Amino acid sequence: MIEKITVVGAGNVGATAAQRIAEKALARTVVLVDVIEGVPQGKALDQWESAPIEGFDTHVVGANDYIPAAGSEIVVVTAGIARKPGMSRDDLVRTNADIVKQVSQQIKQHCPKAIVLVVSNPLDVMCWVTKQVTGFPRERVIGMAGVLDTARYRAFLAEALDVSVEDIQAMVLGGHGDTMVPLISYTTVSGIPVTQLLDKPALDKIVERTRNGGAEIVTFLKTGSAYYAPSAAVTEMAEAIVRDKKRILPCAAWVQGEYGISGVYLGVPCKLGRGGLERILEVKLSGDEQAALNKSAAAVQETMAAVSLKP
Ligand code: NAI
Ligand code: 2OP
Repeated sequence: MIEKITVVGAGNVGATAAQRIAEKALARTVVLVDVIEGVPQGKALDQWESAPIEGFDTHVVGANDYIPAAGSEIVVVTAGIARKPGMSRDDLVRTNADIVKQVSQQIKQHCPKAIVLVVSNPLDVMCWVTKQVTGFPRERVIGMAGVLDTARYRAFLAEALDVSVEDIQAMVLGGHGDTMVPLISYTTVSGIPVTQLLDKPALDKIVERTRNGGAEIVTFLKTGSAYYAPSAAVTEMAEAIVRDKKRILPCAAWVQGEYGISGVYLGVPCKLGRGGLERILEVKLSGDEQAALNKSAAAVQETMAAVSLKP
C-alpha cells in the first residue's frame, strides 16, 4: 500500500477507477479531482460509505483543486471528454490536449514525484502532452491502452474457443486506434499457438473486432464510451506499480529507438514496478507486424502534429 493515489476526472472511467483502487486497498487515500463542483466530493463520499460493506480502509476524498492531491505517488489522468458516436479518437485531440495541459501543470506543481498513468484520448498523444508539460522522465509517464485492447482481444478469443479467459496469453501493441497491432504470433492458449486452434478467417474477425472494440461500446451506449474494462485496465497497471510486481504489460511508452522507432508514444511490452516503467522489452516481430507498428507510429506522429504545446 502507498500513501496517496489521485485520479483526475471523476467521470465514468475516473470514478470507477477510484472505486477499484480503493477496493484493492492500493493506497491509504484516493483523491478524486474534477472541475465540476460537487461531483468528485459526492462520488468520493458515496464510495467511502461503501468501505464498511466492501471491507477496505482506503479513504476516498473528492476535490475541485489539487491541494488534497499534494504529494501523490501515482496520478491517473482521465480528464477530458469522451468519444461520441461517429467521432474518431483523433477528433478529440485539441479539446483534450488543452485539458491535459492544464492537468499536467497541476501535477507538476503538486505531485512532482508522481508516476502518471494517462487514460485520456487520443491516448498516445495525451501521454506525449503530459510528458512534455510535466517534464517527467519516460519512466514516470505511462499510457493505458494496450492492457484494455489486449483484454478485449483475450475476451473475444476465449468466447470463440469456449475456454477460460485466464488461459489466453496475448499482447496488443501499437497506438490506441484503428492501427493497433494484435500480435497473433505471440497469442497462445496455455502455451498452444492460437493458429493451431482457430483458422485465419476466424482470427481475422477477432482482430477486426478488437480494433473496433471501443467503437462497438460507443454504438451501444450512444452518450459515452467504455469504462468498466478501461478502469480495470488502469487499476491493473497501478497495482503492478504499488506492489512492485514487475508485471509485463502492453503499455504506451515513449520509445527511444526500441523497435527502430523514436520520438513517439507507442504500445510496447513494458515491465512495471515501483520505478514505474522499468524496462521496455523488445521482442522479435514478423515483417508484417513490424510494418503495422511503423504505420501505427506514423499515425500517432500525425496526430501529434495537430497539437500545440504552447500554454
Ligand atoms: P467522462 O466524460 O465520463 O469523464 C471525464 C471527466 O473529466 C468529466 O467528469 C469532466 O468534468 C472531467 N474534466 C474535464 N476537464 C477537466 C479538468 N480540466 N480537470 C479535471 N477534470 C476534468 O469521460 P470518461 O468516459 O470517464 O472518459 C475519460 C477519458 O478517457 C476520455 O478522453 C476517453 O476518451 C478516455 N478513455 C480512454 C481509454 C483508453 O483506453 N485509453 C478507454 C476509455 C476512455
Ligand atoms: C475505448 O477504447 C474510448 O478509447 C476508448 O473504449
